[in-house]
Amino acid sequence: MDNADAGAGATLIFPAVDQSALDYLTAAQHRGEKTICAASVKSDLIASNGADLLHLPSIYAEDFIDCFMALVQSRPVRRLYSPVSSVYDFMQRFINTHRLNIEMVGQSPIRQQVQQHRQLMGRASRLLSFVGLCAAGLPHLSLIEVAGVLRQVSLIYGESNDDKLAAIMGIAPTVVAGDVIEIGSLMGRSAFVLSYLAMKYNIGPLLTVDPWGRDQAIQTDSTQSFQALVDDWDFSVLSEGFYVNMVPFNRGQHAHLQLPSIDGFKEYAKQHSFSSPSAEPVNFSGRISLIHIDGNHDFARVQEDCVHWLTLLTPGAWLILDDYIWAHGDGPYRIGNQLLIDRAEDIALSFVCGKALFIQFNNSVDAK
Ligand SMILES: C[S@@+](CC[C@H](N)C(=O)[O-])C[C@H]1O[C@@H](n2cnc3c(N)ncnc32)[C@H](O)[C@@H]1O
Repeated sequence: MDNADAGAGATLIFPAVDQSALDYLTAAQHRGEKTICAASVKSDLIASNGADLLHLPSIYAEDFIDCFMALVQSRPVRRLYSPVSSVYDFMQRFINTHRLNIEMVGQSPIRQQVQQHRQLMGRASRLLSFVGLCAAGLPHLSLIEVAGVLRQVSLIYGESNDDKLAAIMGIAPTVVAGDVIEIGSLMGRSAFVLSYLAMKYNIGPLLTVDPWGRDQAIQTDSTQSFQALVDDWDFSVLSEGFYVNMVPFNRGQHAHLQLPSIDGFKEYAKQHSFSSPSAEPVNFSGRISLIHIDGNHDFARVQEDCVHWLTLLTPGAWLILDDYIWAHGDGPYRIGNQLLIDRAEDIALSFVCGKALFIQFNNSVDAK
């Protein structure tokens, strides 16, 4: 037995055949936990991580007991992670019966699913009354629909939190017909929600604008350490990840402009047809009914976004100005306050939720 292995012991990942096993292995490697991978069949997935894969027969094979005992006698196995329910249950009984000094890691995959689902439904029911409040008496998303949106959202890396997304879900039935615009999409967390809601409420097509470029992403009003985070990104992953994340919700009513907001605006102002990711044309009306501004948060950039894009709002449109309350700068806050003062007479409703400022403009007054 290797001395280095002997201390805290190692975690046996068995069967190490699926994504869940690979995720556990990767996380264990990051926290310095020793691991041993074993399976009854070869797995390219585990090989892709560079880890060795030992052979253990199936739990139903006659030689399983001998092979397993030989493994734990030659290796310091102290924990067992099993991503397959039948193996988990079998191994739990096996360990108890043979009084092995091995602990099962976590719950069985089935019990984990049950728990995760209950947590999701709890999260959705906590938000449901707020969704209803924002809908101002109109029919709104059901508990199942809110949970469905949250579930998909949790698969997409992003910076929009539950409260803000609940408010967006809530106001959606009140949005008049027109184009839905998003400035700053990152990997598509809020874009997915907008895409789903635009379809659900028949609002109109979605245009997202994000250059996914280092130069545009730097926010010079923020601290140096915050600015340095930009260098952690591989921008080609951002754009590819965005398109991957949007695939399941593509209804042929979404186009993306990989441009800085100002250049995107110039394109949108002069033409109303853009290609969808599948190269089909998407036709816009040129009248914006909902705009989510979540691009570069420097004062000058937010000002530029508002000065241009808000000229094309349709009466009754909604503006969501993200990070109005923000720890890393006050660009959105200053511009939001300026808007609340300058356009006071045009504003029907405003509130702050999940750090974003929501403004609904009057339906009767022409947007300026
Ligand atoms: C805060 S993230 C957006 C988060 C996203 N809405 C979400 O829900 O996860 C900001 C995004 O703005 C983009 N961005 C930076 N400068 C921009 C600009 N001038 N025009 C449009 N997007 C910009 C960045 O590339 C980044 O993806």
